[in-house]
Amino acid sequence: MIPNLYKIPKHVAIIMDGNGRWAKRRGLPRVFGHREGAKTVERVIDIARDNKIQWLSLFAFSTENWNRPKEEVEAIMSLLVEYINTKVPSLIERNVRLRFMGRRYNLPEMILNTMEEGEKATEHCTGMNLVVALNYSGKAEIVDAARKIAEEGKTDITEEEFRKYLYIPEMPEPDLLIRTSGEKRISNFMLWELAYTELFFTETLWPDFGEEDFAQALYEYQSRERRFGRVLENK
Ligand code: IPE
Ligand code: IPE
Ligand code: MG
Repeated sequence: MIPNLYKIPKHVAIIMDGNGRWAKRRGLPRVFGHREGAKTVERVIDIARDNKIQWLSLFAFSTENWNRPKEEVEAIMSLLVEYINTKVPSLIERNVRLRFMGRRYNLPEMILNTMEEGEKATEHCTGMNLVVALNYSGKAEIVDAARKIAEEGKTDITEEEFRKYLYIPEMPEPDLLIRTSGEKRISNFMLWELAYTELFFTETLWPDFGEEDFAQALYEYQSRERRFGRVLENK
């Protein structure tokens, strides 16, 4: 899809937004948007794999999303469980390792078990890492790390040391963040990890997101100059 294979981001993070509006525009209940959004996830995994992206992380459910109507929360949770249960064999076939990122300790047991089964079943896959942020909050991730550090009685903490206490310490920081649906905010996603990430916002709603939008995001990324606070020598 991308003719120019140079500068492919190692880690692409996506805030999958706009499912509700997609459904509303069609006069359908919001849950139809979530169902359609799950299909986009499949498409995006294949596009990311085709482009040799090593890490793909998807914001699926935030800690704040529990404040939505009970029926919607239940529908999203059952979609997630259904997704894991039905897609794991195809993830294995595609050599994709599934992991979850977020607070685990207060999740319903059935959901937690399903997540852990999915992680275990794909543990040996090396083609791509798929990280699903579920019950995730960037602030909570930092607080949870600080708690663990305090529990261990550590005092001499550097950034490098702190990183080891994040949910997935080996996950590289995202190079590119995509947010769909026209909203231009982070909504508590990966606050630590996004420090120097390139941001790409598109009006496309998540259920409509496809190859062209992904390509546009990658082209835009490739045209950016990442400086990390430095002055580049050739400038
Ligand atoms: C994103 O779509 C999915 C979740 C947050 C679970 P939304 O449900 O936020 O859709 P909009 O933003 O209301 O359109
Ligand atoms: C962010 O989307 C969370 C996910 C995509 C899971 P929201 O729709 O919850 O964010 P806000 O409320 O528009 O900031
Ligand atoms: Mg939204």
